[in-house]
Amino acid sequence: MPDFMSEESIPEFVQPGGFPVSVPNAIMLGIESSCDDTSIAVMKGDVVLSQFTAAQHIHSKYGGVVPEFASRAHQKHILPVLNGALERAGCALSDLNGIAYTRGPGLNGSLLVGSAFARSLAWSLNLPMWPVHHMRAHVLAHWISGGDAPAEPMMALTVSGGHTQLVDVSSPWDLNVVGTTLDDAAGEAFDKVAKMIGLPYPGGPEVNRLAQEGDRFAFEFTSPQVAGLDFSFSGLKTSVLRTLEKNKEGREKDLKWKKDVCASLQHTIVAILVSRLEKAADRFGRKAIAIQGGVSANSGLRSAIQELGARRGWKVHIPPFQYCTDNGAMIAMSGQFSSMKSKPGGLGDGPLPRWPMT
Ligand code: KG4
Ligand code: ZN
Repeated sequence: MPDFMSEESIPEFVQPGGFPVSVPNAIMLGIESSCDDTSIAVMKGDVVLSQFTAAQHIHSKYGGVVPEFASRAHQKHILPVLNGALERAGCALSDLNGIAYTRGPGLNGSLLVGSAFARSLAWSLNLPMWPVHHMRAHVLAHWISGGDAPAEPMMALTVSGGHTQLVDVSSPWDLNVVGTTLDDAAGEAFDKVAKMIGLPYPGGPEVNRLAQEGDRFAFEFTSPQVAGLDFSFSGLKTSVLRTLEKNKEGREKDLKWKKDVCASLQHTIVAILVSRLEKAADRFGRKAIAIQGGVSANSGLRSAIQELGARRGWKVHIPPFQYCTDNGAMIAMSGQFSSMKSKPGGLGDGPLPRWPMT
């Protein structure tokens, strides 16, 4: 085993703990490249020293992420993003104690760029490398300093462009998926309806913006009927399509109409998400709830979750905006947690585009 993979290279812990926990005081680099954002953060302990993100605007005219363009853009951005993150943190490569990177799930080409870059960098600097599961990282973002670190087991809802998952969290190392979507993800539902009414990709933020001035009761869209704790959004998408077909003609330039569609859509999606989260928390006896992932940036969802917490007397965890959508800090945070319990990864840890969350 090469020395960069040895146990001695695992950094010292400040105060290894239970729940709540203290994380190692090491300087960890976090590299995220699973989809269309190249994001790198430098983190000391649980404090973000810097985060630098390059978004890819090329996809907006295609109405979705084009994988080949995404990996090319990661290749172009990754070195300047690393330099920007180090410069903002006031750190040199020689200050780093470890390198965490997204191993999966995600787009193969995008993951390949970030993971090959991260593994080569760690190897050349003789540092431990920490392969990270992207969906676990969204949940672990709650421990990034600046928010209220979770202090008790919680029911967490991950809502992103590719996933919708209910995760029972009994410690940062014990994440148990208890519900998932049977078809589209919540973010996908936002993006697809946005496309139907001519909004650019990604549609979620645009829908959110227009929804603020729309009438949420203007349209009634069907909510799916799914047993247990799973989700389904494809029926909602069809329901929106049918409604729009009936009264779309001549409306392409009608901003009021678009605002009403957005408000009604957002209201329906938020109601589905909130009711499932409440049901799951009740079923598992949790008194703390959380949302994370790109859709947790949605203002309607954020306030509905706060209302749920207030109504039930539950503690609510919502990440700051910069840690909701894909970000390097959540990868660095995950690297810190991995370094407390596992051995580092190796050079052969290639991308896992369909890595299940176990
Ligand atoms: O977590 P994320 O950045 O990437 C994935 O891992 O998929 O999530 C991206 C998703 C997109 O579907 C985007 O439209 C959605 O998050 N999103 C939003 C908002 N901001 C991002 N959806 C609704 N409202 C928002 N404000
Ligand atoms: Zn994500």
